[in-house]
Amino acid sequence: SPLEQQLKDLQSFQVIAHRGASGHAPESTMAAYELAHEWGADYLELDVQITADGELVVFHDDTIDRTSDGKGEINDYTLEELKALDTGTWFNEENPDSADTAFEGAQILTLDELFDHFGHDARYYIETKSPQLNPGLEEALVETLEEYDMVESGRVLVQSFEQDSLLKVQELNDDVPLIQLVWYYPSEEDDSHLLEWTNVTPGPSEITDADFQAVADYAAGIGTNVTYDGEDVSDADFIRQAQENGLPVHVYTINEREEMQRLLDWGVNGIFTNHPDRLLELVE
Ligand code: G3P
Ligand code: CA
Repeated sequence: SPLEQQLKDLQSFQVIAHRGASGHAPESTMAAYELAHEWGADYLELDVQITADGELVVFHDDTIDRTSDGKGEINDYTLEELKALDTGTWFNEENPDSADTAFEGAQILTLDELFDHFGHDARYYIETKSPQLNPGLEEALVETLEEYDMVESGRVLVQSFEQDSLLKVQELNDDVPLIQLVWYYPSEEDDSHLLEWTNVTPGPSEITDADFQAVADYAAGIGTNVTYDGEDVSDADFIRQAQENGLPVHVYTINEREEMQRLLDWGVNGIFTNHPDRLLELVE
């Protein structure tokens, strides 16, 4: 089945376009997703949140300040209010080398618009962002995935740092392949590194097979960082141990060629990047 094929594909290498080709066009806009799709990224990565009137929108930050001409928390606005914002001009100002007048006035995308545009021609790597700020997010998401037949057709992965959010999605539809996001950070006490994901007690970097198996019980893979403030916090052993426990590993968010090559050498199963063109060049 297409869903089985998708899970099989997770064993090989996946190019994941982080918020679209967001190094080249304003993140989470149609322009960024079109570029990533055109270049042949395996997955379009996106964060979903819920508006004051219950619509799902593609947006990363909790507030609209950084990537629009508005201010405040995204959940306080209705879709109509959000649609009036310009989510492209900030990019031109921040990235004069990649600026394009076509980006001006870019509108916040709804998940429906993204699905209407690419349909089953793309695969989507969807993060339930800040679930505690977005009550009802999982229900609305699963409903939309089912409406567009995205699950059985092997078109979607759902990722979250919040284990509870993933388990909620699984309760609503247990065919949705899930990715547990985790993060490593340096300990303040010694030079070890700690590993954490939300709802799970922070632990040492020495994660055990039993820890991995507990994730493998509900998830199809793991998404992790490997550096923190430029410092290495993970290694090839973590990747191998996860894989030995049946969990493919995707690393976020890698934009430099050298770092991409290092991770390819480690044998990771995928990389989230704002520059899918660079990564595609390396893997082809
Ligand atoms: O979803 C993987 C990576 O995107 C997690 O970090 O903050 O970019 O959503 P963030
Ligand atoms: Ca994300």
